[in-house]
Amino acid sequence: MTIRHFLQFSDFSLADFEHVIERTRIIKHKFKNYEPYHPLMDRTLVMVFEKNSTRTRLSFEAGMHQLGGAAIYLNTRDSQLGRGEPVEDAAQVISRMCDIIMIRTFGQDIIDRFAQNSRVPVINGLTNEHHPCQVLADIFTYIEHRGSIAGKTVAWIGDANNMLYSWLQAAEVFGFHVNVSTPKSYDIDRSLVSASNARYTLFGNPSDACEDAHLVTTDVWTSMGFETENAARLQAFDGWIVDAEKMHRAKPDALFMHCLPAHRGEEVAAEVIDGPQSVVWDEAENRLHAQKALLEYLVLGKV
Ligand code: CP
Ligand code: NVA
Repeated sequence: MTIRHFLQFSDFSLADFEHVIERTRIIKHKFKNYEPYHPLMDRTLVMVFEKNSTRTRLSFEAGMHQLGGAAIYLNTRDSQLGRGEPVEDAAQVISRMCDIIMIRTFGQDIIDRFAQNSRVPVINGLTNEHHPCQVLADIFTYIEHRGSIAGKTVAWIGDANNMLYSWLQAAEVFGFHVNVSTPKSYDIDRSLVSASNARYTLFGNPSDACEDAHLVTTDVWTSMGFETENAARLQAFDGWIVDAEKMHRAKPDALFMHCLPAHRGEEVAAEVIDGPQSVVWDEAENRLHAQKALLEYLVLGKV
């Protein structure tokens, strides 16, 4: 059997996502009704963290437990990964002792090399370039609130980061459009966007990017690993806050999303993230349900 990985959003087809989204709905329903569901009994997930996390660790660890399996947490601080063991060797060893692996790391090349040497499926729990699990949960959240996302407009306001590149891949798979507004000096890296992707438009003015959007979304201005740029970024992103004025340019029933953690008063105003259009807590919770469906799919295939 060939091993499937989820290293970036484009690794899955629309049919894969349709299955995972339907399973997310079913698995969430079971959870809400206290219905035990243990398809991964005796299976083990290893989670490797080279960066901090609250949501990703919690949702994968709780999710694996709820599916009847076990989760083991490794980080760079107290494993040999932090002492220079080659990623290829780590992949060989870890993948002989578990059924599936989740990694949060720096460059996408690291997770790619890990997956090439793994005997079991590997999931991207965030790299500098992609955050596909978050966008999977976000799309499920959009569908829960508003139905199909096909043909809709998503406004991305802020940094061209891992979340944006996963949104751009998702736009191609699901057939929606992304209005992107970043400060000029923090523009899209085109080497991370497929040349044939016609599903986005660049806007110099962030308010214009919000015009008639069905969903407005943003993220921190300084992602993990880029902390030394923080002061320069605070200056460059002045004006890119998602506030009530920008939300007014979007559709009246537009949703607001943020993968969290958020900085009120920087990338988003408190009145927006804590306001009626915000679905940030649903996004966070849906990480749990969507990733349980993803774990089930990658370990057992279609059930
Ligand atoms: N959104 C997200 O991935 O959060 P954590 O960094 O807390 O895992
Ligand atoms: N873009 C952010 C997302 C955190 C979940 C980062 O990479 O730090």
